[in-house]
Amino acid sequence: MRYYPAPYDEAGVADWIARNLSRYERDGHGLWAIDLKSTGEMIGDCGITLQEVDGQPLPEIGYHLRRDMWGQGYATEAARACRDYGFTQLNAEVLISLIRPENVPSRRVAERNGMTVWKEINRAGLKHLVYAVRRAPRDQ
Ligand SMILES: CC(C)(COP(=O)(O)OP(=O)(O)OC[C@H]1O[C@@H](n2cnc3c(N)ncnc32)[C@H](O)[C@@H]1OP(=O)(O)O)[C@@H](O)C(=O)NCCC(=O)NCCS
Repeated sequence: MRYYPAPYDEAGVADWIARNLSRYERDGHGLWAIDLKSTGEMIGDCGITLQEVDGQPLPEIGYHLRRDMWGQGYATEAARACRDYGFTQLNAEVLISLIRPENVPSRRVAERNGMTVWKEINRAGLKHLVYAVRRAPRDQ
């Protein structure tokens, strides 16, 4: 949570869950659970949420993984699955990831997801890079 304005307290967590439940209802997608296939254990979340960039809602791929599971390629695997889902099931033209410049692991995941830096924006008073990937002809 170091790249977010502050960690969530218990009320913040309950709010986050409620927000994603309403996203499933309203948008048909949101941040989903990442389950470890070998054990069925939930180790994080990854999914597609609508985020405003310069006044326009765009589908964003986000990911958060339990710390003891880092560095094994799980976020990359999940982010790629979301990219494929966004292009083939949601018919998105573009998918983005909003990332603080200092968040190197997250930037590496975006880059391995085929994304490049599109622009910089200010969000909650903090500089963010807008990584983006456009739909390739093979996904249409
Ligand atoms: C970002 C995050 C999901 C990456 O998960 P992950 O499963 O470890 O990612 P992967 O293993 O697929 O790839 C991580 C990449 O970052 C690198 N990396 C991992 N930890 C790192 C660190 N502390 N410093 C620099 N690079 C690091 C890995 O080596 C890998 O890059 P590589 O291809 O050059 O080897 C995870 O670090 C996380 O949950 N962070 C906290 C939440 C967060 O910041 N989410 C993103 C918000 S934009």
